[in-house]
Amino acid sequence: MGEAILVTGGAGFIGANFVLNWAEVVGTPVINLDLLTYAGNPASLDALRGDEGHLLVHGDICDGELVAASLREHQPRALVHFAAESHVDRSIVEPDAFVRTNVQGTFTLLEQARLYWSQLDEPDRSSFRFLHVSTDEVYGTLGPQDAAFTEETPYAPNSPYAASKAGSDHLVRAYHHTFGLPTLTTNCSNNYGPLQFPEKLIPLVILNALEGKPLPVYGDGGNVRDWLYVGDHCSAIRAVLDRGQVGETYNVGGNSERKNLDVVTAVCDLLDELRPDAAIGARRNLITFVKDRPGHDRRYAINTTKIERELGWQPAKRFEAGLRQTVEWYLNNPAWVDNVRTGGYLHWIEQNYAERLAR
Ligand code: NAD
Ligand code: TYD
Repeated sequence: MGEAILVTGGAGFIGANFVLNWAEVVGTPVINLDLLTYAGNPASLDALRGDEGHLLVHGDICDGELVAASLREHQPRALVHFAAESHVDRSIVEPDAFVRTNVQGTFTLLEQARLYWSQLDEPDRSSFRFLHVSTDEVYGTLGPQDAAFTEETPYAPNSPYAASKAGSDHLVRAYHHTFGLPTLTTNCSNNYGPLQFPEKLIPLVILNALEGKPLPVYGDGGNVRDWLYVGDHCSAIRAVLDRGQVGETYNVGGNSERKNLDVVTAVCDLLDELRPDAAIGARRNLITFVKDRPGHDRRYAINTTKIERELGWQPAKRFEAGLRQTVEWYLNNPAWVDNVRTGGYLHWIEQNYAERLAR
């Protein structure tokens, strides 16, 4: 077994940030298995072009033979699993892909990892890790006064996305419990930061507001999310990989609960300051309340006591500073933005928003 790690979904938002951070902070080789769906973007990894420490393998996590060959060939010491269908609204329109990638794909990885791991000799066998990156959405929704999610909160997923992630979490748990596979699971709140595909709230609003387009806020805008800067999520994953207790799950969050309307307003004010446009005027006027998402979870909040106490991890970036940095990143990277806003993206925007905005 070498010092390489196998990452899945490393051309997506969090995966790409993780791979870039890993090259900077750790520097050992990364094998990056990614299907390059609409959400995967090799341009996000341009900084690693020509770097021998990064190998992008274009392939599907549901392809057992490919996964087996990647493990056999590269002998990784860990598998860090990001690959997923990740957008709740898409899971409402097209749930099939979520069950396939998130459940079947995770199962395929677990099964191939088990076969690979079971033939390792000690001490490699004991030090191998399968780290599964999951979400707080598996816990369902909270009322305004409810205590934040802990690792003991019962699973109650409400969207096809959350249900498919919950299914994958259960499989990971079972592979540890039944076979002893050395697994770790992280359940993280909403990430934001550079390289996020602009179907998600924050980048969507930044780009629409920049161009003077309506800013679609679902329902009354009072839904609450906990926001974590993506770089902090990456450091949490490294901490869990390094020091996490095998078989355990860790909640990861930013201690930054915000109402959607407040997030959108903050983006508007930042853009008015950084890129004022007399023709557009105050961006807050672009806010448009639209038809709600079916089954829209009201509130997510994360209790981070376990990861703080056991692994000494804390988020480093405050929400306001991270949001400013994120807005600046989108302003400074128009080529990346143009590259992702292709035909498929425009089709999604039409499909999800045309009827909502016409009301
Ligand atoms: P993303 O949608 O930006 O990226 C997903 C990546 O997975 C893409 O590169 C895509 O090409 C790849 N992929 C999809 N299907 C694949 C398949 N069958 N085989 C191989 N690769 C495939 O997602 P993200 O926001 O970066 O999320 C990464 C992980 O973190 C997901 O598992 C998600 O559930 C979890 N997560 C995300 C958030 C968030 O706020 N974005 C929060 C908590 C947890
Ligand atoms: P999103 O970024 O899709 O993440 P998630 O659904 O996984 O939390 O959405 C964040 C919040 O913003 C969520 O409450 C839904 C809301 N939202 C809008 O109000 N308008 C939008 O156009 C989008 C994409 C999301």
